[in-house]
Amino acid sequence: MAFQSLLGKEKTIGNSIIRPLVEIALGCTLAYVVGKWVYELADPTQRAKREAKEMAKNILKNIGLDSSNIKLSDYEMSIASHLVDPKSVNVSWEDIGGLDDVINEILETVVLPFRRQDLFVGSNLLKPPRGVLLYGNPGCGKTMIAKATARAAGCHFINLQISTLTDKWYGESQKLAAAVFSLAYKLQPVIIFVDEIDSFLRARSSNDHEATAMMKAQFMSLWDGLCSDESANIMILGATNRLADVDAAILRRMPARFHIPLPDLACRRQIIGKILKDEKLADDVVLDNIAQCSEGLSGSDLREVCRYAAACRVRDYVNQQENNQSDNILQRTKY
Ligand SMILES: Nc1ncnc2c1ncn2[C@@H]1O[C@H](COP(=O)(O)OP(=O)(O)O)[C@@H](O)[C@H]1O
Ligand SMILES: [Mg+2]
Repeated sequence: MAFQSLLGKEKTIGNSIIRPLVEIALGCTLAYVVGKWVYELADPTQRAKREAKEMAKNILKNIGLDSSNIKLSDYEMSIASHLVDPKSVNVSWEDIGGLDDVINEILETVVLPFRRQDLFVGSNLLKPPRGVLLYGNPGCGKTMIAKATARAAGCHFINLQISTLTDKWYGESQKLAAAVFSLAYKLQPVIIFVDEIDSFLRARSSNDHEATAMMKAQFMSLWDGLCSDESANIMILGATNRLADVDAAILRRMPARFHIPLPDLACRRQIIGKILKDEKLADDVVLDNIAQCSEGLSGSDLREVCRYAAACRVRDYVNQQENNQSDNILQRTKY
């Protein structure tokens, strides 16, 4: 009898402990689910992140990497959405007018170390640079060169958009910056291209937002880690229109620098030839003359001049037709 009442007592004690435990567990789960939902609702970048993940999966598939084989974090997936499929790049060396010397040097410094890795092992002197910088006036072909490099290098190519790194959420930028390098380590050989590098890594100032300053500092220290890791097969290729604005510490990390100058006469002639190669030209168009009188223009300006000239021809033609029509109308009203 006493034994039975003891058992009954134990049962009630058991019940009285289990029930609150279950309630606490349920409460925690509910709080977690609701909290996560509210967090996702409050984070305006959530949708962009989901889309980036889908995009990354597609790109990884297109470039022959199975996303189920390589384990990537959400941050790495965000960066992976900037991977370039070389097959989709529509710029090749042949499209670039002039700049033969620079292109040859880039082929030797950037492309060859990735294409012929066997030639570069076992020598400290031959080690390819970890940082390469293209600088010069805007519209002279820096981005074109980077695209042609992505196509020719035969390695993975990350076209890093700086806006991806500047996440509004505190701490996210740093995680994304870390993900750039961890992804590169997983995918190497890799070229990381940072266009307009001055806008991201310009000389640091006391006006920098704390989060931005921290992200820059982290990017630099990860870059240093890369420089000291002999086995890493990763190169950072930067481009800038404003060399003077780039942080001195960044310049130090980019020992190989290539000046992309404004085109000279011969170069302008070549660029005009490339721009107009598939266009119908009147017999009296002399490309040499256009090159002669376009001193000081960049490749991009020359393209704009050609586009404007073509647009003018269409406009003249349309005006002429409209004039003819109104002549007809006038004639009809006359008689
Ligand atoms: N050397 C060149 N050969 C052919 N086209 C050029 C050249 N330089 C510039 N262009 C034209 O100008 C556009 C802008 O060039 P881009 O590479 O974006 O300049 P940058 O990055 O130096 O500001 C190109 O899309 C191309 O049409
Ligand atoms: Mg550019």
